[in-house]
Amino acid sequence: MEIKKLTGNIGAEVLGVDLSKKLSEQSISDIRQALLDNLVIFFRDQTLTPEQQIEFAELFGEISKSPVYKTLDSHPKIMPVIKEITDKDIIGDTWHTDETFQATPPLGSILYAREIPPLGGDTLFANLYLAYERLSPELKNRLEGLRAIHSNDFLSTNAQIRNSTRSTKLREDIGKIHSSHPVVRTHEETGRKLLFVNQPFTFCFDGMTRDESLPLLQYLYQQSSKPELTCRFRWQPGSMAFWDNRCTMHYAINDYPGYRREMHRITIQGQVPA
Ligand code: SIN
Repeated sequence: MEIKKLTGNIGAEVLGVDLSKKLSEQSISDIRQALLDNLVIFFRDQTLTPEQQIEFAELFGEISKSPVYKTLDSHPKIMPVIKEITDKDIIGDTWHTDETFQATPPLGSILYAREIPPLGGDTLFANLYLAYERLSPELKNRLEGLRAIHSNDFLSTNAQIRNSTRSTKLREDIGKIHSSHPVVRTHEETGRKLLFVNQPFTFCFDGMTRDESLPLLQYLYQQSSKPELTCRFRWQPGSMAFWDNRCTMHYAINDYPGYRREMHRITIQGQVPA
C-alpha cells in the first residue's frame, strides 16, 4: 500500500489496495492511520457492490443511517447522492461537516462514485485542525469552553421545496433535531484540538442569540475554508473518498449542468464530541 499526499495540509490517495478483497489486519490498520494522518483518503478504480462497500465501512465502526435523507430501499445503510441531468440543485454545495445536529455526529463518511460527469463535480475538503491552530491565542482563549447549538433547520425547514429541485431526497416527516457541542473539539484518537462549527448546521453559540453569534461564526467559517487548508478531489467512476468527519468539512461543487452524477454514501457512527 502506498500513500500519496495531495497537498501538504490535507488529503492523500491510497494506492495498491483492492477493497473488493478481504483486507488483512495490517491493511485495515494502515488505512485507519492514513485517515488520521491525512483527514481524507481517496481510493481509485475500485469495483464494489453495495454489499462490499458496506463490509468495508463496517471495518471502521457501526454504520449510522441518515436521519434526514432517504436511503436505498434495497440497502438502507446506503444513502444515494444523485443529480439527474435535469436537476438544478445538488446536496452538499456549502462547506459543512455531516450531520453535526446529531448528539453523536458521524465519525466518518465513505462516498463511492458510481457515475461521474465528464467534467466538474469535484469535491473540496478542509482541515479543521489547522483552522483552529491558525487563530490568535486571544481568540483561542475566547472560544475555549464555548459551546454551540447545531440544528437540522437548514435542511428540514422547506424540505418539500428543496426536494422539488433535487434527486437526493430529504425525508419530509422529520422534526427538529438539535444538539450542543464544544466549539473547540478534541479529536478522540489524535488528541488534537479543532474548530467544530459549520455554516449550515451551527445555529448559534450556546447562551447567545443567533444575531449575537453570527459575526464571530462568519469569521470562523471564513478562516476554516481558506484555500490553503483544503484539497480538491477529481472523481472518476470507481473512486472512493473516506473522510474523517470529526475534523473536516467538505463542499460538493455544482458545476456540471446537463450531466448525471451518482454516488453512494455510508456514514459511520461517531461519539459525543468532547
Ligand atoms: C456530501 O455532502 O456528502 C456530498 C458530497 C459530494 O457529493 O461530493
